[in-house]
Amino acid sequence: MSSDDTISRKIPKGGLLYGDYLMLDQLLSCVEPITRSLGNEVHDEHLFIVTHQAYELWFKQILFELDSIRNLLNGKEVSETNMLVITSRLNRLVLILKLLVDQVSILETMTPLEFMEFRNYLSPASGFQSVQFRLLENKLGVKNELRVNYGKSHYLTIFQDPKIIELIKKSEQEPSLCDLIQRWLERTPGLEEEDFNFWERYKEVVNGMLESSLREAEQETDPGVKEHILNDYKQKTKVFETIFDESIHNGLITRGERRFSHRALQGALMISLYKDQPRFNQPYHVLTSLMDIDSLITKWRYNHVQMVLRMIGSHQMGTGGSAGYQYLRSTMSDRYKVFVDLFNLSTFLISKDYLPLLTPKMKKKLSTLTHKQDSDEDES
Ligand code: HEM
Repeated sequence: MSSDDTISRKIPKGGLLYGDYLMLDQLLSCVEPITRSLGNEVHDEHLFIVTHQAYELWFKQILFELDSIRNLLNGKEVSETNMLVITSRLNRLVLILKLLVDQVSILETMTPLEFMEFRNYLSPASGFQSVQFRLLENKLGVKNELRVNYGKSHYLTIFQDPKIIELIKKSEQEPSLCDLIQRWLERTPGLEEEDFNFWERYKEVVNGMLESSLREAEQETDPGVKEHILNDYKQKTKVFETIFDESIHNGLITRGERRFSHRALQGALMISLYKDQPRFNQPYHVLTSLMDIDSLITKWRYNHVQMVLRMIGSHQMGTGGSAGYQYLRSTMSDRYKVFVDLFNLSTFLISKDYLPLLTPKMKKKLSTLTHKQDSDEDES
């Protein structure tokens, strides 16, 4: 978790054996049911421990990948080569999370009665104290101010070790994946006003579409159909205004309903609309993986809360002291979705027939995979 955890290792003369390399003695000795030590072993506690430990090991891997992706993104430019590495590591994260979502069902084979037999020994231990889970949320970009309070306290108050508190606070302050993705999106080629000026062209097309639907309504003779077209026109105009008017967009950010800066949103929309252009292909996969990550974490929260309902019902407090099921249910809201803006992009997509045509210069820019940093690497 921190650099203090690192131990130095040497390869013995005869080479490393399987068990030594993986330090299995240490690792496996950590599966020690408390009920066994108390002389009244409950069979399913073994599974309960192994499941939690397996989660923590995967959390460790997720953090490792997440840190590397953040490092690769944390520069003035991201080369195409690095983009490929980022895409494949994000895809790895997606696969790990799928596994974590499915893993819940194994623990669900434990019966509530069996769980009841050792639950009392657990208090006040709770997944709520998982440091790695909090690091994972923060490094992805879950916002402190959007979190649901735990009881009436802030999530950090349950930690006592100053080193842990410092570690979590650091993860709140350093640029999250969400911050770095925004910086990268803000540099999307084609957004520059002096160049293709995507945003102005996009606005022109959308306004044209809205005006033509207003004209259609005016010409309609059937009052029912006319009303329907007019309502649709009004609703669409209002929705598009939320992205055309930067102050409305910023207001939604303040309310926690949007996360991306205005320019990052433009970049994401441009990539989504022109995803078939070669240079936007990888970025589009990145955006898709980010949505997958968000969805899978929400699915994990859902599976976890359903398991909690099955094990302790909806009226028992958690061993960590929260309202249990009710608290966990509230964490499934969009406030915990880091890439909520990517999901909402679908509202603003326009059909290919209306898409502003790329200028020859822009088409050339997006058709080539070469990038300054790549060509520098090739030359060296
Ligand atoms: C029988 C199985 C389980 C039950 C009954 C259970 C119950 C709960 C409850 C009631 C909470 C709310 C905090 C509290 O008051 O304790 C919680 C939080 C949490 N649990 Fe579990 N849990 C189970 C299994 C797991 C597993 C396998 C993991 C894997 C790591 C896990 C990870 C977490 C995490 C990360 C939180 C904090 C969630 C948040 O604050 O958003 N739990 N759990």
